[in-house]
Amino acid sequence: MKKLYVIGDPVDYSLSPVIHNAALKTLGLDNEFTYDQMKVRKEELKEFIRKVRTGEIIGASVTMPYKEIIIPLLDELTTEADLIGAVNTIYIKDSRVIGHNTDGIGCIKTLEESGVSINEKKVIILGAGGAAKAIAYTLALKGVKKLAIINRTKKKAETLAKTIEQKTNTIVYTGNFDLLETVLKDADIIINATSVGMRKISENQTLVTEDLIHSDMVVMDVVYNPRVTQLLKEAKKAGAKTVDGSSMLVYQGAEQFKIFTGRKAPIKIMRKALLEVLDENSSKKN
Ligand code: ATR
Repeated sequence: MKKLYVIGDPVDYSLSPVIHNAALKTLGLDNEFTYDQMKVRKEELKEFIRKVRTGEIIGASVTMPYKEIIIPLLDELTTEADLIGAVNTIYIKDSRVIGHNTDGIGCIKTLEESGVSINEKKVIILGAGGAAKAIAYTLALKGVKKLAIINRTKKKAETLAKTIEQKTNTIVYTGNFDLLETVLKDADIIINATSVGMRKISENQTLVTEDLIHSDMVVMDVVYNPRVTQLLKEAKKAGAKTVDGSSMLVYQGAEQFKIFTGRKAPIKIMRKALLEVLDENSSKKN
């Protein structure tokens, strides 16, 4: 069996196993590959990578809080991961452990699927962690007009903005949440790339409320569980277009699946499996 995992700490919230296992089963690959979640503590990360290097494990999805700190432990980064400075996928190639990032492409595909054009748009990204980095770089490379990165820790937003400006032609504004009201006035798209709003952790919280959202905005959340986060509820009340995080999970996972198995991912099956679990979760709560 070729072993695949999603690693993080905590990791039990992750629904990556749902989409990958649905895909493996549908393509009849479940007798060749297994995909499970594994809680890996920081001090165990090195040992996990060693097992990938020896081929005992053939790859993994990487989630919080390891997207950045895993980098020095890897043998090589793909162009995307190197540019972004964060990794959400690791795999073995010629006995070397490669780090890659599919979050940016996942975000772009999600917006495309929702009919949202990013060309010449003013985009606000909330957060400056691994997911925010991938999204910010990819949007900057794909031609957004103005980018604002708003983060609780302003310094992290500033560091990210500086490197994006060095590597792309996009001008990036930064600030903490005090600046939010000002930048929101003329924003077209707002993307929450923080963990705020996650089920069981901060489910009823949102960094942006209805009064700050305009009806002609697009509001996207990277948080996918619950599917309709508090932010998206506020956006709906304000009459804005909403894009939930489920598509991004599916698209970033589909890109990983191609790398792990060499096969095209069955997107519709992955989405169906994910939505079933999310709907089940939300009915359990009510
Ligand atoms: P990921 O890899 O999923 O992006 P991360 O790198 O740990 O996760 O980043 C989490 C992001 O969520 C950060 O931008 C973090 O803000 P700080 O840089 O200030 O820590 C943001 N975040 C987490 N909890 C938050 C909260 N309660 N309020 C505001 N921002 C929060």
